[in-house]
Amino acid sequence: MVAPAQIQHSLMRWLVTGAGGALGRDLVDLLRAAQEPVTGLTRDELDVTNAEDIRRAIGDAGGADVVINTAAYTRVDDAESDSDAAERVNGWAPGLLAIECFNRARLIHVSTDYVFGGDATEPYEVEAPISPQSAYGRSKASGEAAALGLTPGGDVHVVRTAWLYSGSGPSFVRAVGGRLRQGQAVDVVDDQRGAPTWTRDLAARLIALGTADVAPGLWHCSAAGEASWFEVAVALSEELNCDPALVRPTTSAALQRPAKRPAYSVLSNRKWIAAGLPAMPHWRDALHEAVTTLGDALTD
Ligand SMILES: NC(=O)c1ccc[n+]([C@@H]2O[C@H](COP(=O)([O-])OP(=O)(O)OC[C@H]3O[C@@H](n4cnc5c(N)ncnc54)[C@H](OP(=O)(O)O)[C@@H]3O)[C@@H](O)[C@H]2O)c1
Repeated sequence: MVAPAQIQHSLMRWLVTGAGGALGRDLVDLLRAAQEPVTGLTRDELDVTNAEDIRRAIGDAGGADVVINTAAYTRVDDAESDSDAAERVNGWAPGLLAIECFNRARLIHVSTDYVFGGDATEPYEVEAPISPQSAYGRSKASGEAAALGLTPGGDVHVVRTAWLYSGSGPSFVRAVGGRLRQGQAVDVVDDQRGAPTWTRDLAARLIALGTADVAPGLWHCSAAGEASWFEVAVALSEELNCDPALVRPTTSAALQRPAKRPAYSVLSNRKWIAAGLPAMPHWRDALHEAVTTLGDALTD
């Protein structure tokens, strides 16, 4: 991973929204460790659906140079029956942020692999057509369009990522790892492929993007390689020295969750790498690094 010491001192003023969330926390931690001036605002401190709040926050942060929006409605299944709320946070707020950042700050907005249909057989490039299959995916697609479309000429970067896990908050790695450590069997789908991405790796790359001399637009940034959730769970059992036989393959149809997930949502990092931005590690190496670095905190 890119260590704090490797983050170039930028003299930028950073504002991180959704700072109580998994990615937001890692961003604030890394920026503080690199002694960058950063203001991290949780949902209670900044509601990103409120333009006046955003204006005040950017002013209070002493005039942020880079705003990283990690605030989101991320309860994918709940969004099916609560789509208006998801749309407000994921679809509407990125446009407000783009407007308030226009001519003042670079905006980095985080989006998702769930904007894709999931019927591809090779990694999605940034220009691949989107076809969200869930209310969450549709709301995130609206947010991409709002962030990129409302302020032509603005310094707006939308970064799609995938399958995040971290040392805080709910995630697949935390839930499955916790059960495996207790010797419990887990049924894990073997028919969805993606790239599990450690928030700390992503946070370091978003910080690099914050100061990079690159044209605004759409980016993909997730761990390299690909796997099914089942393969990820088996790898996790190896890392945790648990019995891999506890991981049992199942299908998405058998689990019957309210929101449809893309069957294949691997993102191509080709544009990111071609722009000279720091490459992401392979998901398997990152998982080993996360377990080594975070210990029990990853799966408690
Ligand atoms: N998690 C994944 O697997 C994944 C995959 C691809 C992309 N992403 C994207 O990556 C970004 C970060 O995700 P994450 O995993 O860090 O999510 P997270 O842990 O759920 O964090 C999101 C944060 O946003 C806050 N929030 C919700 N509504 C808000 C509002 N109106 N104003 C301000 N803050 C608000 C949430 O607060 P509450 O908890 O109080 O609601 C939460 O603290 C999101 O854009 C997400 O869509 C995530």
